[in-house]
Amino acid sequence: MQVLLIGGAGYIGAHTALAFLDLPGTRVGIFDNFSTGSPDNIPEGCEAFEGDILNEKSLHEVLSMGWDTVVHLAAFKAAGESMESPEKYSINNINGSINILTGCSKHCIRNFILSSSAAVYGEPQYLPIDENHPTMPENYYGYTKLSIEGHLKWYDMLKGIRYASLRYFNAAGYDVQGRMRGLERNPANLIPVVMEAAAGKRSELSVFGDDYPTPDGTGVRDYIHVTDLADAHVKAAQYLAKEDKSLTVNLGSESGLSVLEILNKAREVSRKEIPARIAPRRNGDPAKLIASSGYAKQVLGWQAAFSDLDTIIASTWNVYKDL
Ligand code: WQD
Repeated sequence: MQVLLIGGAGYIGAHTALAFLDLPGTRVGIFDNFSTGSPDNIPEGCEAFEGDILNEKSLHEVLSMGWDTVVHLAAFKAAGESMESPEKYSINNINGSINILTGCSKHCIRNFILSSSAAVYGEPQYLPIDENHPTMPENYYGYTKLSIEGHLKWYDMLKGIRYASLRYFNAAGYDVQGRMRGLERNPANLIPVVMEAAAGKRSELSVFGDDYPTPDGTGVRDYIHVTDLADAHVKAAQYLAKEDKSLTVNLGSESGLSVLEILNKAREVSRKEIPARIAPRRNGDPAKLIASSGYAKQVLGWQAAFSDLDTIIASTWNVYKDL
């Protein structure tokens, strides 16, 4: 297999590169503009190419190098920011994806794996969320992912590009062997914010609401370890290489953790106080989001193995403790 990870120098991309490198005889390339990812994240053994998905010349140059599979991880992902600057998201996430699809078609790359998101579902109408749940994104970021999925369906039908759209729930954790240490700059997601507060880089954690209809009143999410996500990408690539059909799957642990459960485990593991205060709810936040991942298990033989609370928090603190 010859797999090109577009946006592969980021948090999920670099962990995914590690997983593909473990597959004997796999050629792994990383194409990235290093706007949020870093060359330091690129594991030994990958071919690295600096370029931007909005620069069709550089993109086509790399796409023409004999790849059989593309994993598309290059996107902006901040839901709140997408509501303030939709143009930034439509240009990068949508136009950029169309550039990649057009390049795949031109260079006969038939297998396309998309980093998608549970954000395509919007407010849950039932839980756990399965792939048949209505897709009504509540933020423009989620809409960009749904829109790209729509293009994939047409390119499948019209150009024979088979795709696997992987709808991640909340990605978390770090490689348990400590091989990945890249930190997100100015994070907004809960776990990196908690870790920055633990490491003293942030004065406190604001808990966005403690009056939700959940056991302790704080938001519940389905945290999926990034190594489990990476494993799903490898299984999806093997599926596309073997089967001549596309698929869309949820990737989650199927269990929910609250903000306070995350915070208290981080205090226990880091042995730091981690100051926190209750703040108003954040617009657009559902009380609870939990995945049904049975379809990924059934079709890909995928099973989360690192997504327990202890592993997620311990592997993350192992990176942040040296901040
Ligand atoms: C988790 C919980 C917050 C920060 C987002 C995107 C989604 C996906 C994953 C890409 C919620 C609470 C958070 C803080 C807090 N991104 N929280 N204080 O919102 O579930 O999903 O990231 O695919 O598209 O929307 O993740 O980590 O922001 O929030 O209390 O400082 O933590 O209210 O309950 P979210 P999150």
